[in-house]
Amino acid sequence: MNQYYITTPIYYVNDRPHIGHCYTTIVADVAARFQRLIRGSDADVFFLTGTDEHADKVVTSAAEHNVTPQEWADRNAAEFRRAFAACNVSFNDFIRTTEPRHKDRVVEYITSLLKSGDIYRGQYTGWYDQGQEEYVTETAAREADFKSTINGKPLVKRTEDCYFFKLSKYQDALQKHIETHPAFVSPPSRQAEILGRIRAGLNDIPISRPVTSDPATQWGIRVPGDDANRVYVWIDALFNYLSVVDTPERRSLWPAAVHLIGKDILWFHAAIWPALLMALRAAAPAYEWVKLPHSIFGHGWWISEGMKMSKSLGNFISFERLTAYADRYSLDAVRWFLATQGPLSGADADFAHAKFIECYNAELANGLGNCTSRVSNMIDKYFGGIVPPNDHNAEFAPQPGGGSPIDLALAARAAAKNPAAAGSEARAFHFPETIAFHVKRAIEDQAAFDMSASLMHVTEIVRFVDDFISHTAPFTLAKTMNTNPDAKPALAAILYACAESLRVASLLASPAMPTKMAHLWRDWSCAPPPNVALVELARFAGDHALSPGSRLTKGEPLFMRADPAEAPPTEKA
Ligand code: MSP
Repeated sequence: MNQYYITTPIYYVNDRPHIGHCYTTIVADVAARFQRLIRGSDADVFFLTGTDEHADKVVTSAAEHNVTPQEWADRNAAEFRRAFAACNVSFNDFIRTTEPRHKDRVVEYITSLLKSGDIYRGQYTGWYDQGQEEYVTETAAREADFKSTINGKPLVKRTEDCYFFKLSKYQDALQKHIETHPAFVSPPSRQAEILGRIRAGLNDIPISRPVTSDPATQWGIRVPGDDANRVYVWIDALFNYLSVVDTPERRSLWPAAVHLIGKDILWFHAAIWPALLMALRAAAPAYEWVKLPHSIFGHGWWISEGMKMSKSLGNFISFERLTAYADRYSLDAVRWFLATQGPLSGADADFAHAKFIECYNAELANGLGNCTSRVSNMIDKYFGGIVPPNDHNAEFAPQPGGGSPIDLALAARAAAKNPAAAGSEARAFHFPETIAFHVKRAIEDQAAFDMSASLMHVTEIVRFVDDFISHTAPFTLAKTMNTNPDAKPALAAILYACAESLRVASLLASPAMPTKMAHLWRDWSCAPPPNVALVELARFAGDHALSPGSRLTKGEPLFMRADPAEAPPTEKA
């Protein structure tokens, strides 16, 4: 199986972590954990996140806090690491763009592109706000009547030396690549917007900023051979995806399988980044390995309680707010909610408290949690907490008039529901086949990067088991155990099928909820062994199935029911 390299954006260190950062990183974590599970190995999966540190705003906020930009970056990069550790994110590497391993590579890349001529020295002319010491776009200048929006003084037309990247040269190649690789810009709803912009024509883009006496302009990687210019933060930042794996041991990880990002930064990733890679590949034979990533996945945004998140509206979901949810409902419940209800498919998603509670109660407390409790309680009660024998083949297809206790249980249920049609309505439950179907589909959904569809197979399995329990009514059957010698084996067959199905559901849930599922595995003595691929692990009653005779402890309920009337958790002061 191919190697799988997944990245998140690298985050600006002037900001504190919030739901946007945690969301992208948790979704990437679920995808990475899923790939490790599918392969039964950690070796070929590489998950990268990190921080983007050379932005001018880092200098500004550092000054406001009376520290150097590097100190400010150190402090905030540590905050991101702490937040991601608290979210149980299993990244393989964390890159900071101020690290020499990154900066040195960027200098090498720019040097090659200068040599090949795809980066060239030219002149940039634009409207300059002298008070703010920054350029204003043509549109913004016109809207402000060519005056500074800050001090009202006229903007001046200014020309200065600057380095450009020949983006225009790659217009046709980019267009063709996107047209012939439908998964390159994902989800598909995002493709038209990128293609439209490319077809409209591409200009070369400035990729440097001048270094002046203003300290803000002194932060950043210098253009090789020219100390008066520094590489624009975005170009520096994009190269992180390559610089981290540009070592002899890691080069085979390239190209990335998925660059997961938010919709606002899609243009940089779907147009400028591939063009830079094409240019680098063409620049020197040493860059022959620099192919294009498989997919740039641009998710939508979280809004909160129906509105754009804002600190002043009080609906801002900070990392601390997420932590308060995790403290009350468990981190895994938060991860589940973000991964299944998030804006992955493109449309924005609402973080509303009522919606969180509804999802939590329906899918976790009353769903997976309740179903595992029911089954383990019955195994505890009727089999002394020992996994019952699995003598039945887990095909529950009632024979009309069939006499086994399982037939009778199924038929009795059908008759109770519709006395006129006793027998005919009895439903068949084919466990091995149904479970294999969900496992296969969950893997396919991962390949399509559809987290929510993939995780919904957990819920589907739970529903199947719940349905089976209500059809076979094992608690009723149990009442006949003293009088009917066939009742106990029937009960064993029913409960084994339920528990074994839930074991498979727990495997599929584990990338989103690693801690809760590890608890379940401990209680049920069924932790998956290392180095076994998911299809093997998940084979119903296969080599890694629940083993009859082993302990199955009922343990604590996985998820306590939430009270919808309780006030939403708030961050601690
Ligand atoms: N540093 C750049 C990325 C460089 S990647 C080579 C950057 N950083 S950021 O910290 O501002 O934003 C990072 C990500 O957070 C973006 O993908 C953005 O879409 C995401 N989000 C910010 N607010 C968000 C929401 N409200 N909801 C979901 N994601 C959002 O941009």
